[in-house]
Amino acid sequence: MEKKENNEELLAFLKRKGFVYQGSEIYGGLAGIWEFGHLGKLMKNNLENVWKNYFLSLGDEFYEIEGSIIMPKNVFVASGHLDNFDDPLAECFKCGNTERADKIIEEKLKIRVESSTDKELLKILNDNKLYCSKCKSKFEKVSRFNMMFPINFGPKEGSTVYLRPETAQTPYLNFKTQYELLRKKMPLGLAVIGKAFRNEISPKHSLIRCREFEQAELQIFFNPREINNEQITDTNTFSEIKNEKLKIILKDERNKPEKEISASKLLDYGLPKYYVYHMVKVQEYILQILKIPKEKFRFYELNDQEKAFYNKNHFDMEYYSESLNDWVEIGGVHYRTDHDLGGHQKISQVNLSVLDEKTNEKYIPHVLELSFGHWRNFYFLIEEHLKFDKKRENNILMLPPKIAPLKAAIFPMIKQPEYEDYARRIFNELKKEWNIAYDKSGSIGRRYARNDEIGTPFCITIDQDSIKNKDVTIRNRDNTKQIRVKSSELKDIFKKLINEEIEFEKAGKLI
Ligand code: GAP
Repeated sequence: MEKKENNEELLAFLKRKGFVYQGSEIYGGLAGIWEFGHLGKLMKNNLENVWKNYFLSLGDEFYEIEGSIIMPKNVFVASGHLDNFDDPLAECFKCGNTERADKIIEEKLKIRVESSTDKELLKILNDNKLYCSKCKSKFEKVSRFNMMFPINFGPKEGSTVYLRPETAQTPYLNFKTQYELLRKKMPLGLAVIGKAFRNEISPKHSLIRCREFEQAELQIFFNPREINNEQITDTNTFSEIKNEKLKIILKDERNKPEKEISASKLLDYGLPKYYVYHMVKVQEYILQILKIPKEKFRFYELNDQEKAFYNKNHFDMEYYSESLNDWVEIGGVHYRTDHDLGGHQKISQVNLSVLDEKTNEKYIPHVLELSFGHWRNFYFLIEEHLKFDKKRENNILMLPPKIAPLKAAIFPMIKQPEYEDYARRIFNELKKEWNIAYDKSGSIGRRYARNDEIGTPFCITIDQDSIKNKDVTIRNRDNTKQIRVKSSELKDIFKKLINEEIEFEKAGKLI
């Protein structure tokens, strides 16, 4: 197997197969706006379910909620986004072009400059002859540009409201209501998978930097007095994970290669137990559920100048992208303290504190945020699992079966009504539970190839022996091996194969 795609090739693949393409294409497209075709939407739904199954099971009181993307101005006065949520805008006075100063530098010089001032950024651009990409003139100015999307709410004299720039604010505004409804139990986890909007200066690389995108974020509200407790949930302790190793670049060790640090050593470094426990769980999700190779994942600690304005501790999750030839942020583990609830309490004048039953004192809960760029994760999952197989001369999208858009394709091999009826019956039965395809057109080789390329993990054929033996064959996408299974057992075996509860070779009689 060999990897080959760069960002443009990957995008061409996504479009050709109908996963993802630019929004409003027939009108020339809109920069930073993307749409999902049927395979993309199926895969995105599956990724959401995998994320929810994993992260909502981390706590006894973790739930998903859904909220509006439109919020009043005061939400973002309280959260700090109106004052602080900005990026450095480089302006070319000659042609009027604008670009994102820090990203030009990061991409061209491979250095991170989150902590540089606008003046320093302009100097780096000019010293390194990083000129306007349109007219090749010097940039004249770098200044801050706020990324919030204001909209006019109501006719004529309507007020200015904003599209949310992160899903996180929804749980903060819902916290008190959910806390009361859920019998006042802490920690309380509220997750949102949904749209966020940022008026990015230079949207780029399709799903990686868009103006409209989705995030999957879990906000865990907890009592800060318990941040170093050994007991993490009713049934889980810190000791269970204390020897787990995490690959990290620490903020003061930028020039050294990543190092593996055990969870217990991170406590000596000064991180709280509750924080480190969740870093371990995030890594477990990325390596074991998304099947990202260990060498392509790391945590990257942000220093005081770099970290988001709401964070006390901030580690990005990073994936090494071969298509971009760089490490790219796919999410973050954020200790947001009481920054948001405190801000909302102050501006809304609604009391958001809760009672600590042990001490009888009131406190504002702190928040640990596990934040994932849902669309970036989607994109990198395809990048990671799309391989070119020289022997088959075809792309094979080796997604984990749970995430693959279609779980199976059913092929009748013989063009006779009884074989097609038999295949149809199997299709109708499996279709009640899974997204599967029925494909009777083209050679069997073409049908396999089509499905390999879109990631269908199993192809089920009805061949010349199937009616006589009351069985079918199942072919494995990744190694093309085939097994025979009785049709009466197919549903059960198929379920186990998708959930990876059984080895393929042991699921039936190897052919
Ligand atoms: N609630 C915290 C938060 O929003 P963030 O680092 O600004 O933190 C979280 O965003 C994740 O959302 C990022 O790690 C990234 O994966 C994704 N993301 C951010 N901006 C994006 C954009 N313009 N397009 C696509 N994904 C983006």
